[in-house]
Amino acid sequence: MSSFEAVYGAAPGAVAQAPGRVNLLGEHTDYNDGYVLPIAIPQQTRVAMRRSSQPSFSLHAAELGAAVRFTFDEPPTEHFASYVFGCLALARAHGAQIAPLDIHVASSVPIGVGLSSSAALEVATLRCLRQLLGLALDDVQIAQLAQRAEIEYAGVRCGIMDQMASSLADTTRALLLDTRTLARRFVPLPPGSAVLVLDSGIARSLATSGYNERRAECEQAARLLGVASLRDVADAAQLQALPERLLRRARHVVTENARVLAAVDCTAAAAFGELMNASHASLRDDYEVSTPGLDTLVALLQAQPGVFGARLTGAGFGGACVALCQAGALPEVARAVLAAYREAGQSGRQLVPPVH
Ligand code: GLA
Repeated sequence: MSSFEAVYGAAPGAVAQAPGRVNLLGEHTDYNDGYVLPIAIPQQTRVAMRRSSQPSFSLHAAELGAAVRFTFDEPPTEHFASYVFGCLALARAHGAQIAPLDIHVASSVPIGVGLSSSAALEVATLRCLRQLLGLALDDVQIAQLAQRAEIEYAGVRCGIMDQMASSLADTTRALLLDTRTLARRFVPLPPGSAVLVLDSGIARSLATSGYNERRAECEQAARLLGVASLRDVADAAQLQALPERLLRRARHVVTENARVLAAVDCTAAAAFGELMNASHASLRDDYEVSTPGLDTLVALLQAQPGVFGARLTGAGFGGACVALCQAGALPEVARAVLAAYREAGQSGRQLVPPVH
């Protein structure tokens, strides 16, 4: 894999990293002003930059092996470059003076499986820019600019969970975040437990359109209920007036917020795991963002001794599943579940903790 030095023939002026995340609970709640509980994963994206002597920006992604050139007037057409371009354009709109740069990206965050490789790229880009240019941006502002880059330049009307997690979470504790106020605190994992993430091997083909559609349904439900957002509904009994499909979407959001708040008070891993299982059922039946393959993998995890609970993680439609396991049982759980998944005709792999 290339390095900044190998591509540009000199050392970078700044280097920064940011992690991906896995969400433990609180799915599709962030764009409803609700609660989320992500934790950073060990895999990171690393961005290096220096001021360029050329009239255009150069962006080199080690994993893709190709260089992209662009200017503010001629944006890149490559999808991955739009995240970087969006961050540069928004930092500039925020007042930063940004002349052409040589940029190098290297990442170990799995791409396209729901572990926020895009947020890691955005946050690492903005951190690197902050360092190179001495920008007065705090970590929350970085997350906010990164979220806007995703919405305005990558076309996903996402909430702020992924960017806040990449900017502020760490790998040892979960981050409880109130996405309305951005109030947050760290929450330890239940004693004796550890996080396992398996890729279902199912491509998230409908993720962008399905995601934006779910968000629109939630906004419609909130309008019909006369509330600013579904966060303002305390009890699922208040949803009865909604048409059937919107009722199920809103019920997922209301019950999922309650599950996050219940989970942070759990002292026992088993109780936390039950909430994860209930979250998956709600995502499958009410929110309809699961797939048969994800349901198979989650069922195998849930049936495995040593697993407290399991669910799909991220936006859904494919991608990864997360399980809370007995710390000592984790390697055997991963082995047994992946073998059974193979027997079911599917091919998965372990993503967290990373297997080298
Ligand atoms: C994606 C989005 C997040 C969040 C999750 C679902 O990861 O980027 O903002 O909505 O889906 O919980």
